[in-house]
Amino acid sequence: KRLILIGPPGSGKGTQSPIIKDEYCLCHLATGDMLRAAVAAKTPLGVKAKEAMDKGELVSDDLVVGIIDEAMKKPSCQKGFILDGFPRTVVQAQKLDEMLQQQGVKVDKVLNFAIDDSILEERITGRWIHPSSGRTYHTKFAPPKAPGVDDVTGEPLIQRKDDTAAVLKSRLEAFHKQTEPVIDYYSKKGIVANLHAEKPPKEVKVEVEKALS
Ligand code: AP5
Ligand code: ZN
Repeated sequence: KRLILIGPPGSGKGTQSPIIKDEYCLCHLATGDMLRAAVAAKTPLGVKAKEAMDKGELVSDDLVVGIIDEAMKKPSCQKGFILDGFPRTVVQAQKLDEMLQQQGVKVDKVLNFAIDDSILEERITGRWIHPSSGRTYHTKFAPPKAPGVDDVTGEPLIQRKDDTAAVLKSRLEAFHKQTEPVIDYYSKKGIVANLHAEKPPKEVKVEVEKALS
């Protein structure tokens, strides 16, 4: 399967991705995770991306299209993929269509994590992540067994620099202005499934399975 996950910050894309990935044996490509790794490693790409990310603005289309183009060539992505956080502009969606056309394949489904903005601040400010694995926790909704520590490795958890109430405002603005049109783009193709992303993770998972069956 070739899937796209679209939704505002904190809507649960990164929480559902590992589950979907394991169930359907897909590769998981999250542009946000890839960009954060580049920023941490101070690669030329990371240096270019950092400023926009810290402000909660989108990184340029060319940069992210380049990363996705590269990543999709991996053998593990040939059978199918989950795109988490990409495409985020109509230009990115058009570029993706071109890339897939060249391979003679297309997107099967777009999962739209629909949720009210008012729920997101609590989710974002309570999030803790284990950077090397991408495992995500929440102080209230998904607490680790020991506070501040990853369940599997025992390594420390961190908070994302952009996970503040102030930066969330810009991220939401970018979502409504630049990313919502992408949902319309795919709706016209008849491949969007709308999820109730405000429900608990297990219930969202059931909706995902229904959408993909
Ligand atoms: P990115 O990393 O993609 O961030 P985002 O889209 O803002 O999404 P999040 O990762 O914040 O949310 P999520 O939906 O994954 O939530 P999660 O499941 O973790 O992008 C970051 C930045 O990179 C962008 O601002 C931009 O600068 C740049 N960028 C990335 N892609 C780009 C692109 N294509 N073009 C241009 N720039 C790009 O859940 C959040 C919290 O809630 C967790 O703590 C979780 O435990 C909890 N939770 C999850 N689900 C539930 C639930 N159902 N009930 C209760 N709690 C829940
Ligand atoms: Zn995420």
